Amino acid sequence: MKVLKALPGKHWLAEYDETNTYDWKDAEQYFSWATTGKVNMAHEAIDRHAEGERANKDALIYFDGTTEQRFTYADMKRLTNKAANVLVDAGVKTGDRIFIFMPRSPELYFALLGALKVGAIVGPLFEAFMEQAVRDRLLDSEAKLLVTTKALLPRVPVGELESLEKVVLVDEDVEESDTLLDFRKAFEQASDVFEPVWLDREDGLILHYTSGSTGKPKGVLHVQNAMIQHLMTGRWVLDLQEDDIYWCTADPGWVTGTSYGIFAPFLNGATNIVVGGRFNPDFWYSVIEKYKVTVWYSAPTAFRMLMGAGADVANHHDLSSLRHVLSVGEPLNPEVIRWGKEAFDQRIHDTWWMTETGAMMICNYKSMDIKPGSMGKPIPGTQAAIIDDQGNELPPFRMGNLALKTPWPSMMRQIWNNPQKYESYFFKGWYVSGDSAYMDDEGYFWFQGRVDDVIMTAGERVGPFEVESRLVEHPAVAEAGVIGKPDPVRGEIIKAFIALRDGYEPTDELKQEIQAFVKEGLAAHAAPREIDFRDKLPKTRSGKIMRRVLKAWELNLETGDLSTMED
Ligand code: WT7
Repeated sequence: MKVLKALPGKHWLAEYDETNTYDWKDAEQYFSWATTGKVNMAHEAIDRHAEGERANKDALIYFDGTTEQRFTYADMKRLTNKAANVLVDAGVKTGDRIFIFMPRSPELYFALLGALKVGAIVGPLFEAFMEQAVRDRLLDSEAKLLVTTKALLPRVPVGELESLEKVVLVDEDVEESDTLLDFRKAFEQASDVFEPVWLDREDGLILHYTSGSTGKPKGVLHVQNAMIQHLMTGRWVLDLQEDDIYWCTADPGWVTGTSYGIFAPFLNGATNIVVGGRFNPDFWYSVIEKYKVTVWYSAPTAFRMLMGAGADVANHHDLSSLRHVLSVGEPLNPEVIRWGKEAFDQRIHDTWWMTETGAMMICNYKSMDIKPGSMGKPIPGTQAAIIDDQGNELPPFRMGNLALKTPWPSMMRQIWNNPQKYESYFFKGWYVSGDSAYMDDEGYFWFQGRVDDVIMTAGERVGPFEVESRLVEHPAVAEAGVIGKPDPVRGEIIKAFIALRDGYEPTDELKQEIQAFVKEGLAAHAAPREIDFRDKLPKTRSGKIMRRVLKAWELNLETGDLSTMED
């Protein structure tokens, strides 16, 4: 596959050869470090355009179904400057971890980009997180400041967070104190002039917590340098052109919502639609119609829910503005691609990547034939392979570990506070993804599943250990094992097997109580939709729950080798 010339007006990635070469140095000309040696993401994403021809172009359009707010690149520069000044006055310094925990709103974007102007490392938290999830992340990262709302504040155990110095509330009528600060008041008064803190390419940018199969969520640190890949995949894969109206449906609490909901579109000077409120098929279609969305990046779960709503709902809207539709997060079923062709006359382009990769890695391009069911091919300048457990590359059609040759520009640089964990991803020059896949004889990659027990439910990654840990905190639960169970709409749902303590009866009320307990502690999406009570759970002699056996029970499969199981 060959990358070649960027041809504005045509697809950015227009030609291929089989070498897939691209010299990433070539992209450096687009950033300020090429001339000054220093850089700042917020400058590259916002200020650069505000100082040039795109000053009066819409940068961000926020719509929640009732109210709409529009901000040009010039507006965004002033407003993120204000936010930066508010944060500096609150004591934020370069390298501090600043968390943002609030529903989507323009202020979220001002605060996030303002924090980046100060050189802080931003930790965005999904608004559905409950107390334990919030506590784990703020403690592990030693967050210094949190931007949140009154409604979410009860989920922040402020008293237990030693490093947390200030909580900034984005609401009307905030009663200020030593720790509580009124964002709107400070924002009103703040100057709209700010010189971004100039950083090195390897300085911190963003910290996304994500789940593995063991242990608490881990903090994946990305650095400024990732912008190279955000910019270039915005061109090559999203195919962003000057007149595009772009909509990424992901929340900035997840990596898709930052890399492709903020960085890639703004680095490319696009008009970026941000939609607040809940998913609803009719509302989503109306957004496409109202704003004449041209490039749309979403997830299989959402597409499947739209598909479930029926062709009628789609037919009530004019979706003809769409010219490029993409998907990420889980396998994209060929059936959904067929439906997309019917519903809005577009073939949905699958893309594969992970929180840890920071940006897209394996993709279907606009200029390439889609093979429905395949994730596509590696992006220019990167190399992917299927390797066995010894690190040998496997030939086409052999299933194995999906691995990426290190490094690439947006590769994570740290697991926060956990260098051993970080090292564990790498093996003989490869980053090992945890996914199993095969490659066909034309170099297309085909996803097969996770190698570990990580659950992908409705596009969100949930670690079974985190759910199990919460479950066993419930007084009725003696032991818990959690697996992903295949589901036609959500990809997988969370299923828990539970052994009760003596004296508890396995009733439906208890099931509901336990589900609510996980929701209140972690987040609604982490709660098991199904619970089975069992007298005993399968465990190894060392006491580890054997999720593989639970899975076999669930799917009526052979349980395989049970030699390590306790009697
Ligand atoms: C895991 C990463 C950054 C994207 C959002 C999810 C699964 C991702 C695909 C795809 C099949 C996919 C993998 C991966 N996944 N994209 N196109 N086809 N599976 O990021 O939460 O870090 O999860 O999502 O299993 O390892 P994440």
